[in-house]
Amino acid sequence: MSKLALLGGKPVSTPINGIPWPPTSEKTGDKLKELYLSRKWSFNSPSEQEFEKAYAKYHGAKHGIFMVNGTVTLECALEALGIGEGDEVVVPALTWIATAMAVRYVGAKPVFVDIEPTTLCMDPKKFEKAINPRTKAVIPVHLYGSMADLDKIIKIAKRQRLAVVEDCAHMQGGVWNGRGVGSWGDVGSFSFQQSKTVSAGEAGICLTNDDRLADRLFRTKHIGYPNGAGQGGAKHGPPEGLTMP
Ligand SMILES: Cc1ncc(COP(=O)(O)O)c(C=O)c1O
Repeated sequence: MSKLALLGGKPVSTPINGIPWPPTSEKTGDKLKELYLSRKWSFNSPSEQEFEKAYAKYHGAKHGIFMVNGTVTLECALEALGIGEGDEVVVPALTWIATAMAVRYVGAKPVFVDIEPTTLCMDPKKFEKAINPRTKAVIPVHLYGSMADLDKIIKIAKRQRLAVVEDCAHMQGGVWNGRGVGSWGDVGSFSFQQSKTVSAGEAGICLTNDDRLADRLFRTKHIGYPNGAGQGGAKHGPPEGLTMP
Protein backbone atom coordinates (compact mmCIF):
# COMPACT_ATOMS: atom_id res chain seq x y z
CA MET A 1 0.00 0.00 0.00
CA SER A 2 1.34 3.46 -0.85
CA LYS A 3 2.29 5.84 1.94
CA LEU A 4 -0.16 8.56 3.02
CA ALA A 5 0.87 12.07 1.88
CA LEU A 6 0.64 13.07 5.54
CA LEU A 7 3.45 10.59 6.27
CA GLY A 8 5.65 11.67 3.36
CA GLY A 9 3.94 9.85 0.44
CA LYS A 10 3.17 11.46 -2.94
CA PRO A 11 0.06 13.72 -2.72
CA VAL A 12 -2.70 12.81 -5.23
CA SER A 13 -3.53 16.49 -5.80
CA THR A 14 -1.92 19.89 -5.46
CA PRO A 15 -2.69 21.48 -2.09
CA ILE A 16 -5.35 24.17 -2.55
CA ASN A 17 -3.20 26.74 -0.77
CA GLY A 18 -0.60 26.32 -3.53
CA ILE A 19 -3.06 27.59 -6.18
CA PRO A 20 -3.62 31.35 -6.61
CA TRP A 21 -7.26 32.07 -5.72
CA PRO A 22 -9.67 33.01 -7.18
CA PRO A 23 -8.66 31.51 -10.55
CA THR A 24 -8.70 33.93 -13.49
CA SER A 25 -8.97 33.43 -17.25
CA GLU A 26 -8.76 35.55 -20.40
CA LYS A 27 -12.25 34.37 -21.42
CA THR A 28 -13.82 35.54 -18.15
CA GLY A 29 -11.87 38.80 -18.42
CA ASP A 30 -13.31 39.37 -21.92
CA LYS A 31 -16.85 38.63 -20.68
CA LEU A 32 -16.41 41.06 -17.79
CA LYS A 33 -15.23 43.77 -20.20
CA GLU A 34 -18.22 43.11 -22.48
CA LEU A 35 -20.58 43.43 -19.51
CA TYR A 36 -18.85 46.57 -18.29
CA LEU A 37 -19.17 48.24 -21.66
CA SER A 38 -22.86 47.21 -21.99
CA ARG A 39 -23.67 49.36 -18.91
CA LYS A 40 -26.30 46.72 -17.97
CA TRP A 41 -24.82 45.92 -14.58
CA SER A 42 -27.84 45.81 -12.32
CA PHE A 43 -31.64 46.23 -12.02
CA ASN A 44 -32.15 42.62 -13.03
CA SER A 45 -29.89 42.84 -16.07
CA PRO A 46 -30.10 40.10 -18.75
CA SER A 47 -26.78 38.58 -17.63
CA GLU A 48 -27.96 38.58 -14.01
CA GLN A 49 -31.17 36.77 -14.97
CA GLU A 50 -29.30 34.31 -17.18
CA PHE A 51 -26.96 33.41 -14.32
CA GLU A 52 -29.81 33.11 -11.79
CA LYS A 53 -31.67 30.69 -14.08
CA ALA A 54 -28.62 28.59 -14.92
CA TYR A 55 -27.41 28.41 -11.30
CA ALA A 56 -30.86 27.44 -9.99
CA LYS A 57 -31.25 24.78 -12.70
CA TYR A 58 -27.82 23.32 -11.99
CA HIS A 59 -28.85 22.79 -8.37
CA GLY A 60 -32.34 21.47 -9.20
CA ALA A 61 -34.19 24.58 -8.00
CA LYS A 62 -36.90 26.60 -9.74
CA HIS A 63 -35.85 30.14 -8.73
CA GLY A 64 -32.58 31.94 -8.13
CA ILE A 65 -32.48 35.41 -6.55
CA PHE A 66 -29.15 37.25 -6.65
CA MET A 67 -28.10 39.25 -3.58
CA VAL A 68 -25.10 41.22 -2.36
CA ASN A 69 -23.48 38.47 -0.28
CA GLY A 70 -24.00 35.16 1.51
CA THR A 71 -24.94 36.81 4.80
CA VAL A 72 -27.71 38.94 3.30
CA THR A 73 -29.04 35.80 1.59
CA LEU A 74 -29.47 34.13 5.00
CA GLU A 75 -31.00 37.28 6.46
CA CYS A 76 -33.45 37.71 3.55
CA ALA A 77 -34.35 34.01 3.71
CA LEU A 78 -35.30 34.32 7.39
CA GLU A 79 -37.12 37.60 6.75
CA ALA A 80 -39.04 36.09 3.81
CA LEU A 81 -40.01 33.14 6.01
CA GLY A 82 -41.45 35.57 8.56
CA ILE A 83 -38.89 34.84 11.30
CA GLY A 84 -38.12 37.60 13.81
CA GLU A 85 -38.38 38.82 17.40
CA GLY A 86 -39.15 36.06 19.92
CA ASP A 87 -38.29 33.21 17.50
CA GLU A 88 -35.42 30.74 17.81
CA VAL A 89 -33.38 29.35 14.94
CA VAL A 90 -31.16 26.30 15.38
CA VAL A 91 -27.64 26.64 13.92
CA PRO A 92 -24.55 24.42 14.14
CA ALA A 93 -21.88 25.44 16.66
CA LEU A 94 -19.17 25.03 14.00
CA THR A 95 -19.67 27.45 11.08
CA TRP A 96 -18.71 30.94 9.97
CA ILE A 97 -20.16 33.60 12.27
CA ALA A 98 -22.46 34.90 9.48
CA THR A 99 -24.86 31.95 9.96
CA ALA A 100 -25.70 33.01 13.51
CA MET A 101 -25.39 36.76 12.83
CA ALA A 102 -28.12 36.58 10.15
CA VAL A 103 -30.45 35.17 12.82
CA ARG A 104 -29.60 38.12 15.10
CA TYR A 105 -30.06 40.62 12.24
CA VAL A 106 -33.74 39.63 11.96
CA GLY A 107 -34.15 39.88 15.75
CA ALA A 108 -34.37 36.14 16.44
CA LYS A 109 -32.19 34.04 18.77
CA PRO A 110 -29.60 31.60 17.38
CA VAL A 111 -29.55 28.31 19.33
CA PHE A 112 -26.28 26.45 18.86
CA VAL A 113 -26.12 22.67 18.63
CA ASP A 114 -23.06 20.48 18.29
CA ILE A 115 -21.76 18.86 15.12
CA GLU A 116 -21.28 15.21 14.20
CA PRO A 117 -17.61 14.18 14.37
CA THR A 118 -17.93 12.30 11.05
CA THR A 119 -19.41 15.10 8.89
CA LEU A 120 -18.45 18.21 10.93
CA CYS A 121 -22.04 19.32 10.22
CA MET A 122 -25.08 19.69 12.50
CA ASP A 123 -25.95 16.58 14.51
CA PRO A 124 -29.64 15.81 13.69
CA LYS A 125 -30.23 14.28 17.14
CA LYS A 126 -28.92 17.40 18.87
CA PHE A 127 -31.07 19.54 16.56
CA GLU A 128 -34.18 17.58 17.58
CA LYS A 129 -33.33 17.99 21.27
CA ALA A 130 -33.01 21.79 20.90
CA ILE A 131 -36.56 22.22 19.53
CA ASN A 132 -39.09 24.03 21.74
CA PRO A 133 -42.28 26.02 21.02
CA ARG A 134 -40.22 29.13 20.08
CA THR A 135 -38.20 27.27 17.43
CA LYS A 136 -39.20 28.38 13.91
CA ALA A 137 -36.33 27.28 11.67
CA VAL A 138 -33.08 25.40 11.33
CA ILE A 139 -29.99 26.32 9.28
CA PRO A 140 -27.94 23.24 8.43
CA VAL A 141 -24.53 24.31 7.07
CA HIS A 142 -22.75 22.16 4.46
CA LEU A 143 -19.36 22.92 5.94
CA TYR A 144 -15.95 22.79 4.20
CA GLY A 145 -17.39 20.71 1.33
CA SER A 146 -18.98 18.18 3.69
CA MET A 147 -22.75 17.73 3.81
CA ALA A 148 -25.27 17.97 6.62
CA ASP A 149 -27.59 14.95 6.81
CA LEU A 150 -30.49 16.50 4.91
CA ASP A 151 -32.66 13.36 5.07
CA LYS A 152 -32.71 13.36 8.85
CA ILE A 153 -32.77 17.13 9.34
CA ILE A 154 -35.61 17.74 6.85
CA LYS A 155 -37.63 14.82 8.27
CA ILE A 156 -37.42 16.30 11.79
CA ALA A 157 -38.14 19.83 10.51
CA LYS A 158 -41.23 18.65 8.58
CA ARG A 159 -42.55 16.75 11.59
CA GLN A 160 -42.11 19.85 13.77
CA ARG A 161 -43.30 22.30 11.04
CA LEU A 162 -40.01 24.20 10.98
CA ALA A 163 -38.52 26.04 8.02
CA VAL A 164 -35.18 24.83 6.63
CA VAL A 165 -32.59 27.26 5.23
CA GLU A 166 -29.56 25.44 3.85
CA ASP A 167 -26.32 27.41 4.20
CA CYS A 168 -24.45 26.25 1.09
CA ALA A 169 -21.68 28.91 1.18
CA HIS A 170 -19.05 26.12 1.09
CA MET A 171 -20.93 23.69 -1.11
CA GLN A 172 -21.56 25.10 -4.58
CA GLY A 173 -22.57 22.34 -6.98
CA GLY A 174 -22.86 19.72 -4.23
CA VAL A 175 -25.34 16.89 -4.75
CA TRP A 176 -27.38 15.10 -2.09
CA ASN A 177 -29.20 11.91 -3.17
CA GLY A 178 -29.12 12.93 -6.84
CA ARG A 179 -30.31 16.53 -6.42
CA GLY A 180 -28.34 19.71 -5.81
CA VAL A 181 -27.86 21.17 -2.35
CA GLY A 182 -29.86 24.31 -1.72
CA SER A 183 -32.93 22.79 -3.40
CA TRP A 184 -33.90 20.56 -0.46
CA GLY A 185 -34.74 23.15 2.16
CA ASP A 186 -37.26 25.99 1.83
CA VAL A 187 -34.35 28.22 0.78
CA GLY A 188 -30.75 27.49 -0.20
CA SER A 189 -28.22 30.26 0.52
CA PHE A 190 -24.93 30.58 -1.38
CA SER A 191 -21.96 32.97 -1.19
CA PHE A 192 -19.76 34.13 -4.11
CA GLN A 193 -17.26 35.86 -1.83
CA GLN A 194 -13.60 35.86 -2.93
CA SER A 195 -12.59 32.60 -1.19
CA LYS A 196 -15.56 30.54 -2.46
CA THR A 197 -15.57 27.93 -5.25
CA VAL A 198 -17.33 30.28 -7.68
CA SER A 199 -16.25 33.78 -6.78
CA ALA A 200 -17.44 37.25 -7.78
CA GLY A 201 -15.54 39.09 -5.07
CA GLU A 202 -18.78 39.70 -3.20
CA ALA A 203 -22.24 38.31 -4.02
CA GLY A 204 -24.73 35.65 -3.03
CA ILE A 205 -27.83 33.85 -4.27
CA CYS A 206 -30.94 32.32 -2.73
CA LEU A 207 -32.49 29.29 -4.39
CA THR A 208 -36.04 28.10 -3.81
CA ASN A 209 -38.70 25.91 -5.39
CA ASP A 210 -41.52 27.92 -3.83
CA ASP A 211 -43.08 30.65 -6.05
CA ARG A 212 -44.40 32.68 -3.12
CA LEU A 213 -41.06 32.55 -1.28
CA ALA A 214 -39.24 33.56 -4.47
CA ASP A 215 -41.46 36.65 -4.69
CA ARG A 216 -40.89 37.50 -1.02
CA LEU A 217 -37.13 36.98 -1.36
CA PHE A 218 -36.98 39.31 -4.33
CA ARG A 219 -39.03 42.00 -2.58
CA THR A 220 -37.01 41.67 0.62
CA LYS A 221 -33.76 42.35 -1.20
CA HIS A 222 -35.19 45.05 -3.45
CA ILE A 223 -37.19 47.66 -1.48
CA GLY A 224 -40.45 45.81 -1.95
CA TYR A 225 -40.38 45.76 -5.77
CA PRO A 226 -41.62 42.52 -7.36
CA ASN A 227 -39.38 40.79 -9.87
CA GLY A 228 -39.73 42.37 -13.30
CA ALA A 229 -40.59 45.88 -12.09
CA GLY A 230 -38.27 48.47 -13.60
CA GLN A 231 -36.55 51.22 -11.66
CA GLY A 232 -39.26 53.56 -10.37
CA GLY A 233 -41.92 51.09 -11.50
CA ALA A 234 -42.98 49.51 -8.20
CA LYS A 235 -46.35 47.79 -8.44
CA HIS A 236 -48.72 46.91 -5.65
CA GLY A 237 -49.88 43.40 -4.98
CA PRO A 238 -48.52 40.04 -6.02
CA PRO A 239 -47.17 39.34 -9.50
CA GLU A 240 -49.53 37.72 -12.01
CA GLY A 241 -50.63 34.20 -11.16
CA LEU A 242 -49.73 34.47 -7.47
CA THR A 243 -52.17 35.04 -4.64
CA MET A 244 -50.86 36.26 -1.32
CA PRO A 245 -52.19 34.88 1.98
C1 LIG B 1 -20.73 29.00 6.15
C2 LIG B 1 -20.82 30.42 5.70
N1 LIG B 1 -22.03 31.01 5.67
C3 LIG B 1 -22.18 32.29 5.26
C4 LIG B 1 -21.09 33.04 4.86
C5 LIG B 1 -21.30 34.46 4.47
O1 LIG B 1 -20.97 34.73 3.16
P1 LIG B 1 -20.53 36.22 2.71
O2 LIG B 1 -19.10 36.40 3.10
O3 LIG B 1 -20.73 36.22 1.24
O4 LIG B 1 -21.43 37.19 3.43
C6 LIG B 1 -19.81 32.46 4.86
C7 LIG B 1 -18.64 33.25 4.40
O5 LIG B 1 -17.52 32.89 4.49
C8 LIG B 1 -19.66 31.13 5.29
O6 LIG B 1 -18.47 30.54 5.31
